[in-house]
Amino acid sequence: MIKVLSIVGTRPEVIKMAPVIHQLHKEKQIKSFVASTAQHREILDQMLAFFEIKPDFDLNIMEKNQSLPELTAKLPIPLDNLLREVKPDIVLAQGDTTTAFLVSLACFYRKIPFGHVEAGLRTRDRFDPFPEEMNRTLISQLASFHFAPTQGAVDHLLSEGIKKDLIYLTGNTCIDALGYVFANEKGVKVDEGIDRSKKLILVTTHRRENWGDKLEQICEAIKQLADRNEGVQIVLPIHPNPNVRGTILSKLGGHPRILLVEPLSYEKFVILMKRAYLILSDSGGVQEEAPSLGTPVLILRETTERPEACEVGAAHLVGTKAGEIVAAAQELLDDPRKRQAMVVKESPFGDGRAASRIVEVIRLWGARGG
Ligand code: UD1
Ligand code: UDP
Repeated sequence: MIKVLSIVGTRPEVIKMAPVIHQLHKEKQIKSFVASTAQHREILDQMLAFFEIKPDFDLNIMEKNQSLPELTAKLPIPLDNLLREVKPDIVLAQGDTTTAFLVSLACFYRKIPFGHVEAGLRTRDRFDPFPEEMNRTLISQLASFHFAPTQGAVDHLLSEGIKKDLIYLTGNTCIDALGYVFANEKGVKVDEGIDRSKKLILVTTHRRENWGDKLEQICEAIKQLADRNEGVQIVLPIHPNPNVRGTILSKLGGHPRILLVEPLSYEKFVILMKRAYLILSDSGGVQEEAPSLGTPVLILRETTERPEACEVGAAHLVGTKAGEIVAAAQELLDDPRKRQAMVVKESPFGDGRAASRIVEVIRLWGARGG
């Protein structure tokens, strides 16, 4: 019997770890624990509830509008106490958040093997996305197991000197999470005041490197698209980060064709992604999910660590200048054939079986004595 501790902190970590946690709970030779740092609070709890995951431990560290150093400083001691209490054989965390980075560091200090879910994503620009590119680069140096979602991610890890036999090509667990949504459909209706006779444009934005001028430009583009296109309904679930929320409310509040809503449950958000004519987003997870749902995405960023969606034609990297965003979106609104050309048949991010591959690696490692 081996003890596996999975640690999550933010909304996307819950979504992408949920399939792994569900699979770990099923394994007879594994005792599975879950801890939350609660780097996020409301939107973390919303996702935990949806996936029916009840953490065994909650470090409860979120404070409103805390800075990166404040967040970073809060985690090491509670994480170390957690590791001392649980004494896991292996710890898992996902992605490139501050939670994921500090979990990998805490494991290193205690010499506990750390398994990195979604390893190897890179833009090679240390400030974009910020601080995620540096977080994930450092995590790769600290991890013992690297679960890479794509061949491109494997290649990045190899190029940084990570040993081949520690890298596992698994696919991205977000495709498994989408499978969970469809397997557990509860007939949820998305109303939220959306005018269904219009073309839906779904928007999300939260990236730290976009705060300020770039976010203002993104909002300007959204406003221009709404002004110009009477037949369009824009829906934007606002991320709770106050640096994002304030700008969005002041720039876009009150427009008749822009619906600003609170963060949506995963099920509702997936329904809207599927229904949308077009998605505009700077989110990592959304770039990966949209191709599976047959919806084109315009990526509101200067770089992406997920080039696979662009390579298969399902996404375009449009940057953060208002004029360029509007031009790219307008082209797809005006020409449904151009939009249709972005609808792909297969996801470049996996086949929905990533979690079982990850857990099998851990199970076999445990069976060999850890
Ligand atoms: C974090 C991650 C980012 C990830 C994103 C997913 C870091 C540094 N950033 O960014 O990589 O893409 O989550 O959404 O790890 N807040 C609430 N309620 C919540 C969540 C957040 O009020 O449920 C507010 C709080 O004021 C909090 C602030 O948002 O202090 C910032 O949260 P934080 O986790 O530091 O950064 P995000 O921008 O959410
Ligand atoms: N998401 C959601 N409800 C929302 C907005 C996003 O369920 O209102 C989901 C989305 O499908 C994706 C994830 O949250 O899986 C993305 O989270 P976020 O954009 O916060 O983080 P990132 O992926 O950029 O790290």
